[in-house]
Amino acid sequence: MTELNAVLDAATKDFDNSLERLFKLVRIPSISTDPAYAAECEKAANAIVDDLQALGFKAQARPTPGRPMVVAHYTPKEATKDTPHLLFYGHYDVQPADPLELWKTPPFEPTIKKDGAVTRMYGRGTSDDKGQFMTFVEAARAWIRTTGTLPIRATFLIEGEEESGSPSLVPFLKANAKELSCDAAFVCDTNMWDPKTPAITTRLRGMVREEITITGPKIDLHSGMYGGPAMNPIRVLSKVIAALHDKNGKVTIPGFYDGVADLPKQTKKQWQSLKFSEAKFLKDVGLKQAAGEKGKSVLEQIWARPTAEVNGIWGGYTGVGTKTVLPSKAHAKFTFRLVGKQNPDKVLKAFQKFVKGLIPKDCKVEFAGGGGSPATEIPEDNPFIAKSAEALKDEFRRDTVLMGSGGSIPICRFFKDILGMDSILVGFALTDDAIHSPNEKYDLESYRRGIRSWVRIMGEFGR
Ligand code: BES
Ligand code: MN
Repeated sequence: MTELNAVLDAATKDFDNSLERLFKLVRIPSISTDPAYAAECEKAANAIVDDLQALGFKAQARPTPGRPMVVAHYTPKEATKDTPHLLFYGHYDVQPADPLELWKTPPFEPTIKKDGAVTRMYGRGTSDDKGQFMTFVEAARAWIRTTGTLPIRATFLIEGEEESGSPSLVPFLKANAKELSCDAAFVCDTNMWDPKTPAITTRLRGMVREEITITGPKIDLHSGMYGGPAMNPIRVLSKVIAALHDKNGKVTIPGFYDGVADLPKQTKKQWQSLKFSEAKFLKDVGLKQAAGEKGKSVLEQIWARPTAEVNGIWGGYTGVGTKTVLPSKAHAKFTFRLVGKQNPDKVLKAFQKFVKGLIPKDCKVEFAGGGGSPATEIPEDNPFIAKSAEALKDEFRRDTVLMGSGGSIPICRFFKDILGMDSILVGFALTDDAIHSPNEKYDLESYRRGIRSWVRIMGEFGR
Protein backbone atom coordinates (compact mmCIF):
# COMPACT_ATOMS: atom_id res chain seq x y z
CA MET A 1 0.00 0.00 0.00
CA THR A 2 1.30 3.46 -0.81
CA GLU A 3 1.89 5.89 2.02
CA LEU A 4 -1.02 8.06 0.83
CA ASN A 5 -3.40 5.11 0.84
CA ALA A 6 -2.29 4.14 4.32
CA VAL A 7 -3.04 7.64 5.58
CA LEU A 8 -6.41 7.72 3.81
CA ASP A 9 -7.25 4.38 5.36
CA ALA A 10 -6.27 5.56 8.80
CA ALA A 11 -8.46 8.65 8.43
CA THR A 12 -11.43 6.57 7.39
CA LYS A 13 -10.96 4.07 10.23
CA ASP A 14 -10.73 6.86 12.81
CA PHE A 15 -13.83 8.65 11.51
CA ASP A 16 -16.02 8.03 14.57
CA ASN A 17 -13.37 9.57 16.81
CA SER A 18 -13.04 12.49 14.39
CA LEU A 19 -16.76 13.06 14.86
CA GLU A 20 -16.49 12.95 18.63
CA ARG A 21 -13.64 15.47 18.60
CA LEU A 22 -15.70 17.81 16.43
CA PHE A 23 -18.73 17.43 18.69
CA LYS A 24 -16.64 18.48 21.71
CA LEU A 25 -16.04 21.80 19.96
CA VAL A 26 -19.64 22.21 18.80
CA ARG A 27 -20.76 21.88 22.43
CA ILE A 28 -18.88 25.11 23.25
CA PRO A 29 -21.08 28.12 22.34
CA SER A 30 -18.21 30.26 21.00
CA ILE A 31 -20.32 33.17 19.73
CA SER A 32 -17.93 36.01 18.95
CA THR A 33 -20.30 38.91 18.45
CA ASP A 34 -21.77 38.80 21.97
CA PRO A 35 -19.33 39.68 24.79
CA ALA A 36 -21.35 37.43 27.13
CA TYR A 37 -19.72 34.46 25.35
CA ALA A 38 -16.11 35.68 25.52
CA ALA A 39 -15.18 32.97 28.04
CA GLU A 40 -16.67 30.31 25.75
CA CYS A 41 -14.52 31.57 22.89
CA GLU A 42 -11.45 31.23 25.12
CA LYS A 43 -12.52 27.74 26.05
CA ALA A 44 -12.83 26.76 22.38
CA ALA A 45 -9.44 28.30 21.53
CA ASN A 46 -7.77 26.46 24.42
CA ALA A 47 -9.36 23.15 23.46
CA ILE A 48 -7.95 23.46 19.92
CA VAL A 49 -4.52 24.41 21.27
CA ASP A 50 -4.45 21.37 23.58
CA ASP A 51 -5.42 19.07 20.73
CA LEU A 52 -2.79 20.46 18.35
CA GLN A 53 -0.08 20.39 21.01
CA ALA A 54 -0.80 16.74 21.64
CA LEU A 55 -0.23 16.16 17.91
CA GLY A 56 3.20 17.77 18.09
CA PHE A 57 2.34 21.28 16.92
CA LYS A 58 3.78 24.32 18.65
CA ALA A 59 0.39 25.81 19.44
CA GLN A 60 -0.76 28.89 21.32
CA ALA A 61 -3.94 30.86 21.90
CA ARG A 62 -2.70 34.39 21.28
CA PRO A 63 -4.54 37.22 22.98
CA THR A 64 -6.00 40.08 20.90
CA PRO A 65 -8.18 43.01 21.98
CA GLY A 66 -11.08 40.67 21.09
CA ARG A 67 -11.11 36.87 20.92
CA PRO A 68 -7.88 34.84 20.95
CA MET A 69 -6.23 33.62 17.73
CA VAL A 70 -5.02 30.06 17.64
CA VAL A 71 -1.63 29.86 15.94
CA ALA A 72 0.12 26.51 15.56
CA HIS A 73 3.22 25.44 13.67
CA TYR A 74 4.49 22.05 12.58
CA THR A 75 7.93 21.50 11.09
CA PRO A 76 8.60 17.97 9.89
CA LYS A 77 11.85 16.48 11.12
CA GLU A 78 13.08 15.87 7.58
CA ALA A 79 12.07 19.29 6.27
CA THR A 80 14.45 20.85 3.78
CA LYS A 81 14.37 24.33 2.38
CA ASP A 82 12.24 22.97 -0.49
CA THR A 83 9.51 21.59 1.77
CA PRO A 84 6.51 23.83 1.09
CA HIS A 85 5.12 25.85 3.99
CA LEU A 86 1.33 26.04 3.83
CA LEU A 87 -1.04 27.97 6.04
CA PHE A 88 -4.44 26.52 6.91
CA TYR A 89 -7.12 28.94 8.06
CA GLY A 90 -10.50 28.43 9.69
CA HIS A 91 -12.54 30.01 12.46
CA TYR A 92 -13.78 28.56 15.73
CA ASP A 93 -16.31 31.32 16.41
CA VAL A 94 -19.95 30.90 15.41
CA GLN A 95 -23.00 33.02 14.75
CA PRO A 96 -25.61 33.46 17.51
CA ALA A 97 -28.13 30.60 17.53
CA ASP A 98 -31.24 32.81 17.60
CA PRO A 99 -34.12 32.35 17.01
CA LEU A 100 -33.81 29.43 19.42
CA GLU A 101 -37.41 28.31 19.15
CA LEU A 102 -36.90 27.35 15.50
CA TRP A 103 -34.24 24.73 16.26
CA LYS A 104 -35.48 21.15 16.17
CA THR A 105 -32.50 19.94 18.22
CA PRO A 106 -30.53 22.11 20.69
CA PRO A 107 -27.94 24.19 18.77
CA PHE A 108 -25.03 23.32 21.04
CA GLU A 109 -25.84 19.64 21.46
CA PRO A 110 -24.64 18.11 18.18
CA THR A 111 -27.09 15.51 16.95
CA ILE A 112 -26.76 12.96 14.15
CA LYS A 113 -29.88 12.39 12.09
CA LYS A 114 -30.75 10.46 8.98
CA ASP A 115 -32.64 12.51 6.39
CA GLY A 116 -33.65 9.98 3.77
CA ALA A 117 -30.44 8.54 2.36
CA VAL A 118 -28.22 11.26 3.83
CA THR A 119 -26.76 11.27 7.35
CA ARG A 120 -26.22 14.69 8.85
CA MET A 121 -25.00 16.32 12.02
CA TYR A 122 -27.00 19.24 13.34
CA GLY A 123 -25.70 22.07 15.51
CA ARG A 124 -24.42 25.65 15.34
CA GLY A 125 -20.96 25.63 13.80
CA THR A 126 -21.14 22.08 12.42
CA SER A 127 -20.73 23.56 8.94
CA ASP A 128 -19.57 27.13 9.64
CA ASP A 129 -16.83 26.57 10.50
CA LYS A 130 -15.95 23.97 13.13
CA GLY A 131 -16.74 20.97 10.93
CA GLN A 132 -14.83 22.57 8.10
CA PHE A 133 -11.59 23.49 9.88
CA MET A 134 -11.60 20.16 11.71
CA THR A 135 -11.26 18.51 8.28
CA PHE A 136 -7.67 19.75 8.04
CA VAL A 137 -6.96 19.10 11.72
CA GLU A 138 -8.11 15.50 11.27
CA ALA A 139 -6.12 15.13 8.05
CA ALA A 140 -3.00 16.29 9.87
CA ARG A 141 -3.76 13.82 12.66
CA ALA A 142 -4.02 10.96 10.17
CA TRP A 143 -0.68 11.88 8.56
CA ILE A 144 1.14 12.26 11.87
CA ARG A 145 -0.28 9.09 13.43
CA THR A 146 0.38 7.00 10.33
CA THR A 147 3.77 8.29 9.19
CA GLY A 148 5.07 10.03 12.31
CA THR A 149 5.11 13.41 10.58
CA LEU A 150 3.44 15.80 8.12
CA PRO A 151 4.58 15.84 4.49
CA ILE A 152 4.69 19.67 4.55
CA ARG A 153 5.49 22.50 6.91
CA ALA A 154 2.17 23.66 8.27
CA THR A 155 0.89 26.71 10.08
CA PHE A 156 -2.66 26.58 11.39
CA LEU A 157 -4.42 29.87 12.04
CA ILE A 158 -7.83 29.43 13.63
CA GLU A 159 -9.52 32.73 14.22
CA GLY A 160 -12.19 33.60 16.78
CA GLU A 161 -13.76 36.73 15.29
CA GLU A 162 -14.61 35.86 11.71
CA GLU A 163 -18.36 36.02 12.28
CA SER A 164 -18.09 39.51 13.69
CA GLY A 165 -15.99 40.97 10.89
CA SER A 166 -12.50 40.08 12.19
CA PRO A 167 -11.80 43.40 13.97
CA SER A 168 -8.47 42.26 15.51
CA LEU A 169 -7.20 40.66 12.36
CA VAL A 170 -5.32 43.39 10.52
CA PRO A 171 -3.18 44.48 13.48
CA PHE A 172 -2.54 40.81 14.30
CA LEU A 173 -1.38 39.98 10.77
CA LYS A 174 0.80 43.09 10.68
CA ALA A 175 2.39 42.33 14.05
CA ASN A 176 3.06 38.69 13.12
CA ALA A 177 3.70 39.06 9.40
CA LYS A 178 6.97 37.16 9.34
CA GLU A 179 5.67 34.25 11.35
CA LEU A 180 2.50 33.88 9.28
CA SER A 181 3.89 34.34 5.77
CA CYS A 182 3.74 31.01 3.95
CA ASP A 183 3.77 29.86 0.34
CA ALA A 184 -0.04 29.87 0.17
CA ALA A 185 -3.03 29.97 2.49
CA PHE A 186 -5.61 27.22 2.36
CA VAL A 187 -8.98 28.34 3.67
CA CYS A 188 -11.67 25.84 4.60
CA ASP A 189 -14.81 27.93 4.93
CA THR A 190 -16.62 27.63 1.58
CA ASN A 191 -18.96 25.30 -0.31
CA MET A 192 -18.78 22.45 -2.76
CA TRP A 193 -20.60 22.90 -6.04
CA ASP A 194 -23.03 20.11 -5.08
CA PRO A 195 -22.81 17.03 -2.81
CA LYS A 196 -20.87 15.09 -5.45
CA THR A 197 -18.80 17.83 -7.05
CA PRO A 198 -15.83 19.52 -5.37
CA ALA A 199 -15.16 23.21 -5.86
CA ILE A 200 -12.52 25.84 -5.39
CA THR A 201 -13.86 29.33 -4.79
CA THR A 202 -11.99 32.12 -6.53
CA ARG A 203 -14.18 35.13 -5.67
CA LEU A 204 -15.54 36.30 -2.35
CA ARG A 205 -17.55 39.42 -1.73
CA GLY A 206 -16.39 42.03 0.77
CA MET A 207 -18.64 43.48 3.42
CA VAL A 208 -19.46 46.76 5.14
CA ARG A 209 -21.64 46.93 8.24
CA GLU A 210 -23.33 49.90 9.87
CA GLU A 211 -26.01 50.54 12.44
CA ILE A 212 -28.13 53.67 12.57
CA THR A 213 -30.32 55.24 15.23
CA ILE A 214 -32.72 57.99 14.26
CA THR A 215 -34.08 60.15 17.07
CA GLY A 216 -37.16 62.34 16.69
CA PRO A 217 -38.83 63.69 19.83
CA LYS A 218 -36.63 63.47 22.92
CA ILE A 219 -39.08 61.13 24.68
CA ASP A 220 -41.74 58.61 23.60
CA LEU A 221 -44.99 60.50 23.05
CA HIS A 222 -48.74 59.87 23.13
CA SER A 223 -49.56 59.33 19.45
CA GLY A 224 -52.87 61.16 19.88
CA MET A 225 -51.55 64.20 21.65
CA TYR A 226 -48.53 64.59 19.35
CA GLY A 227 -49.40 62.58 16.22
CA GLY A 228 -49.37 65.02 13.31
CA PRO A 229 -46.94 67.71 14.36
CA ALA A 230 -44.30 65.38 15.80
CA MET A 231 -42.11 63.58 13.27
CA ASN A 232 -42.04 59.81 13.83
CA PRO A 233 -38.47 58.44 13.46
CA ILE A 234 -39.77 55.08 12.19
CA ARG A 235 -41.31 56.95 9.27
CA VAL A 236 -37.93 58.51 8.53
CA LEU A 237 -36.12 55.19 8.83
CA SER A 238 -38.60 53.55 6.45
CA LYS A 239 -37.93 56.29 3.89
CA VAL A 240 -34.20 55.69 4.16
CA ILE A 241 -34.63 51.95 3.65
CA ALA A 242 -37.09 52.39 0.80
CA ALA A 243 -34.73 54.80 -0.95
CA LEU A 244 -31.80 52.38 -1.06
CA HIS A 245 -32.92 50.56 -4.25
CA ASP A 246 -34.46 51.74 -7.50
CA LYS A 247 -37.11 49.84 -9.44
CA ASN A 248 -34.46 47.80 -11.24
CA GLY A 249 -32.93 46.56 -8.00
CA LYS A 250 -29.91 48.85 -8.30
CA VAL A 251 -28.50 50.49 -5.18
CA THR A 252 -29.05 54.24 -5.36
CA ILE A 253 -26.28 55.51 -3.05
CA PRO A 254 -24.17 57.91 -5.15
CA GLY A 255 -20.73 56.44 -5.85
CA PHE A 256 -21.72 52.99 -4.59
CA TYR A 257 -20.72 51.23 -7.82
CA ASP A 258 -17.27 52.85 -8.07
CA GLY A 259 -14.82 49.99 -8.56
CA VAL A 260 -17.42 47.49 -9.82
CA ALA A 261 -16.40 46.08 -13.19
CA ASP A 262 -18.58 44.28 -15.71
CA LEU A 263 -18.19 40.53 -15.71
CA PRO A 264 -15.66 39.39 -18.36
CA LYS A 265 -17.41 37.57 -21.24
CA GLN A 266 -15.32 34.47 -20.64
CA THR A 267 -16.34 34.23 -16.98
CA LYS A 268 -19.97 34.74 -17.92
CA LYS A 269 -19.66 31.84 -20.35
CA GLN A 270 -18.02 29.56 -17.79
CA TRP A 271 -20.79 30.30 -15.28
CA GLN A 272 -23.44 29.61 -17.90
CA SER A 273 -21.82 26.23 -18.54
CA LEU A 274 -22.44 25.27 -14.89
CA LYS A 275 -26.14 24.82 -15.71
CA PHE A 276 -27.22 26.34 -12.43
CA SER A 277 -30.96 26.11 -11.83
CA GLU A 278 -32.14 29.52 -10.67
CA ALA A 279 -35.67 28.21 -10.16
CA LYS A 280 -34.52 25.41 -7.85
CA PHE A 281 -32.18 27.69 -5.92
CA LEU A 282 -35.08 30.04 -5.19
CA LYS A 283 -37.66 27.30 -4.66
CA ASP A 284 -35.50 25.63 -1.99
CA VAL A 285 -35.97 28.72 0.20
CA GLY A 286 -39.62 29.32 -0.66
CA LEU A 287 -39.13 31.96 -3.39
CA LYS A 288 -39.94 32.32 -7.08
CA GLN A 289 -38.47 35.56 -8.30
CA ALA A 290 -34.89 36.88 -8.18
CA ALA A 291 -34.92 40.30 -6.52
CA GLY A 292 -31.44 41.54 -7.43
CA GLU A 293 -30.41 43.77 -10.31
CA LYS A 294 -32.63 43.26 -13.35
CA GLY A 295 -30.92 41.66 -16.31
CA LYS A 296 -28.28 39.85 -14.23
CA SER A 297 -28.35 36.09 -13.70
CA VAL A 298 -28.73 34.79 -10.15
CA LEU A 299 -25.11 33.58 -10.10
CA GLU A 300 -23.96 37.00 -11.27
CA GLN A 301 -26.13 38.68 -8.63
CA ILE A 302 -24.52 36.57 -5.88
CA TRP A 303 -20.95 36.23 -7.11
CA ALA A 304 -20.23 39.44 -8.96
CA ARG A 305 -22.61 42.23 -7.88
CA PRO A 306 -22.72 44.30 -4.71
CA THR A 307 -25.78 44.60 -2.48
CA ALA A 308 -27.36 46.72 0.24
CA GLU A 309 -29.33 44.81 2.85
CA VAL A 310 -31.17 45.77 5.99
CA ASN A 311 -30.59 42.99 8.53
CA GLY A 312 -32.80 44.17 11.34
CA ILE A 313 -35.10 47.02 12.21
CA TRP A 314 -36.61 47.93 15.55
CA GLY A 315 -38.23 50.72 17.49
CA GLY A 316 -41.50 51.65 19.16
CA TYR A 317 -43.82 49.11 20.69
CA THR A 318 -43.67 45.52 19.41
CA GLY A 319 -45.30 43.71 22.35
CA VAL A 320 -48.77 42.21 22.59
CA GLY A 321 -51.77 44.41 21.81
CA THR A 322 -51.79 48.07 20.96
CA LYS A 323 -49.78 50.89 22.45
CA THR A 324 -50.48 54.31 21.03
CA VAL A 325 -46.93 55.49 21.14
CA LEU A 326 -45.03 57.83 18.88
CA PRO A 327 -41.51 56.57 19.53
CA SER A 328 -38.48 58.69 20.20
CA LYS A 329 -36.07 56.36 18.40
CA ALA A 330 -35.85 53.98 15.46
CA HIS A 331 -32.94 51.67 14.69
CA ALA A 332 -31.70 49.50 11.87
CA LYS A 333 -28.67 47.38 11.04
CA PHE A 334 -27.32 47.30 7.49
CA THR A 335 -24.75 45.28 5.62
CA PHE A 336 -23.39 45.83 2.14
CA ARG A 337 -21.68 43.12 0.10
CA LEU A 338 -18.88 44.47 -2.04
CA VAL A 339 -17.19 43.23 -5.18
CA GLY A 340 -14.19 44.10 -7.32
CA LYS A 341 -12.36 47.20 -6.18
CA GLN A 342 -15.15 48.79 -4.12
CA ASN A 343 -13.55 50.53 -1.16
CA PRO A 344 -15.23 49.70 2.19
CA ASP A 345 -14.41 53.07 3.78
CA LYS A 346 -15.77 54.97 0.79
CA VAL A 347 -18.93 52.87 0.70
CA LEU A 348 -19.47 53.50 4.42
CA LYS A 349 -19.02 57.26 4.04
CA ALA A 350 -21.26 57.34 0.97
CA PHE A 351 -23.98 55.51 2.89
CA GLN A 352 -23.71 57.87 5.87
CA LYS A 353 -23.96 60.87 3.58
CA PHE A 354 -26.96 59.33 1.80
CA VAL A 355 -28.74 58.77 5.14
CA LYS A 356 -27.97 62.25 6.45
CA GLY A 357 -29.48 63.71 3.30
CA LEU A 358 -32.81 62.06 4.15
CA ILE A 359 -33.08 63.17 7.79
CA PRO A 360 -35.54 66.04 8.37
CA LYS A 361 -34.72 69.05 10.54
CA ASP A 362 -36.42 67.72 13.65
CA CYS A 363 -34.57 64.40 13.71
CA LYS A 364 -30.98 63.40 14.19
CA VAL A 365 -29.08 60.31 13.14
CA GLU A 366 -26.25 58.50 14.89
CA PHE A 367 -24.00 55.84 13.36
CA ALA A 368 -22.36 53.02 15.27
CA GLY A 369 -20.10 50.09 14.55
CA GLY A 370 -19.33 50.91 10.93
CA GLY A 371 -16.48 49.08 9.23
CA GLY A 372 -15.72 46.38 6.74
CA SER A 373 -13.38 44.56 4.45
CA PRO A 374 -12.92 44.45 0.67
CA ALA A 375 -13.73 41.69 -1.80
CA THR A 376 -11.18 39.07 -2.88
CA GLU A 377 -10.44 37.67 -6.32
CA ILE A 378 -7.86 34.92 -6.70
CA PRO A 379 -6.26 34.53 -10.14
CA GLU A 380 -7.48 31.21 -11.54
CA ASP A 381 -4.05 30.38 -12.96
CA ASN A 382 -2.52 30.20 -9.47
CA PRO A 383 -0.48 26.95 -9.48
CA PHE A 384 -1.79 25.90 -6.05
CA ILE A 385 -5.30 25.88 -7.53
CA ALA A 386 -4.44 23.44 -10.31
CA LYS A 387 -2.73 20.97 -7.97
CA SER A 388 -5.47 21.16 -5.34
CA ALA A 389 -8.11 20.67 -8.03
CA GLU A 390 -6.33 17.46 -9.06
CA ALA A 391 -6.25 16.15 -5.49
CA LEU A 392 -9.97 16.91 -5.11
CA LYS A 393 -10.70 15.15 -8.37
CA ASP A 394 -8.87 12.06 -7.10
CA GLU A 395 -11.14 11.99 -4.06
CA PHE A 396 -14.48 12.80 -5.71
CA ARG A 397 -13.80 11.32 -9.16
CA ARG A 398 -15.32 14.45 -10.69
CA ASP A 399 -13.77 17.58 -12.13
CA THR A 400 -13.37 20.41 -9.65
CA VAL A 401 -15.56 23.43 -10.38
CA LEU A 402 -14.08 26.93 -10.06
CA MET A 403 -16.78 29.16 -8.66
CA GLY A 404 -17.62 32.36 -6.82
CA SER A 405 -19.24 32.89 -3.47
CA GLY A 406 -21.55 35.57 -2.20
CA GLY A 407 -20.22 35.31 1.35
CA SER A 408 -17.26 37.10 2.85
CA ILE A 409 -14.12 35.87 4.55
CA PRO A 410 -12.31 39.07 5.44
CA ILE A 411 -8.91 37.47 5.99
CA CYS A 412 -8.41 36.43 2.37
CA ARG A 413 -7.81 39.90 1.05
CA PHE A 414 -5.59 40.73 4.03
CA PHE A 415 -3.51 37.60 3.44
CA LYS A 416 -2.80 39.04 0.00
CA ASP A 417 -2.33 42.69 0.92
CA ILE A 418 -0.38 42.23 4.17
CA LEU A 419 1.37 38.87 3.72
CA GLY A 420 1.52 38.65 -0.09
CA MET A 421 -0.18 35.23 -0.07
CA ASP A 422 -3.00 34.02 -2.28
CA SER A 423 -5.84 32.11 -0.62
CA ILE A 424 -6.93 28.74 -1.99
CA LEU A 425 -10.53 28.32 -0.91
CA VAL A 426 -11.42 24.66 -0.60
CA GLY A 427 -14.53 23.83 1.39
CA PHE A 428 -17.02 21.00 1.75
CA ALA A 429 -20.15 22.82 2.93
CA LEU A 430 -23.37 22.75 0.91
CA THR A 431 -25.86 25.46 0.02
CA ASP A 432 -28.51 23.79 2.17
CA ASP A 433 -26.34 23.63 5.31
CA ALA A 434 -28.37 26.52 6.78
CA ILE A 435 -25.31 28.38 8.02
CA HIS A 436 -26.27 31.39 10.19
CA SER A 437 -29.82 29.90 10.36
CA PRO A 438 -31.62 27.57 12.75
CA ASN A 439 -30.89 23.85 12.24
CA GLU A 440 -27.43 24.36 10.77
CA LYS A 441 -26.07 21.01 9.57
CA TYR A 442 -23.07 19.37 7.97
CA ASP A 443 -23.36 16.14 6.02
CA LEU A 444 -21.25 13.33 7.42
CA GLU A 445 -20.02 12.83 3.86
CA SER A 446 -18.80 16.44 3.76
CA TYR A 447 -16.76 15.78 6.88
CA ARG A 448 -15.46 12.39 5.75
CA ARG A 449 -14.50 13.41 2.24
CA GLY A 450 -13.25 16.77 3.49
CA ILE A 451 -10.77 15.01 5.77
CA ARG A 452 -9.71 12.67 2.97
CA SER A 453 -9.32 15.58 0.55
CA TRP A 454 -6.92 17.41 2.87
CA VAL A 455 -4.96 14.19 3.35
CA ARG A 456 -4.55 14.15 -0.43
CA ILE A 457 -3.78 17.87 -0.77
CA MET A 458 -1.13 17.73 1.97
CA GLY A 459 0.33 14.67 0.27
CA GLU A 460 0.25 16.33 -3.14
CA PHE A 461 2.31 19.32 -1.98
CA GLY A 462 4.65 17.17 0.07
CA ARG A 463 5.84 15.16 -2.88
N1 BES B 1 -18.30 30.70 5.78
C1 BES B 1 -18.86 32.00 5.64
C2 BES B 1 -18.64 32.61 4.27
C3 BES B 1 -19.30 31.83 3.17
C4 BES B 1 -20.66 31.73 3.12
C5 BES B 1 -18.55 31.21 2.22
C6 BES B 1 -21.28 30.99 2.12
C7 BES B 1 -19.16 30.46 1.22
C8 BES B 1 -20.52 30.35 1.18
C9 BES B 1 -18.26 32.91 6.68
O1 BES B 1 -18.05 32.33 7.92
C10 BES B 1 -19.22 34.02 6.95
O2 BES B 1 -20.38 33.81 7.15
N2 BES B 1 -18.70 35.21 6.95
C11 BES B 1 -19.43 36.36 7.29
C12 BES B 1 -18.40 37.43 7.39
C13 BES B 1 -18.85 38.76 7.80
C14 BES B 1 -19.40 38.78 9.20
C15 BES B 1 -17.73 39.75 7.65
C16 BES B 1 -20.45 36.65 6.20
O3 BES B 1 -20.21 36.40 5.03
O4 BES B 1 -21.53 37.13 6.55
MN1 MN C 1 -17.37 30.57 8.02
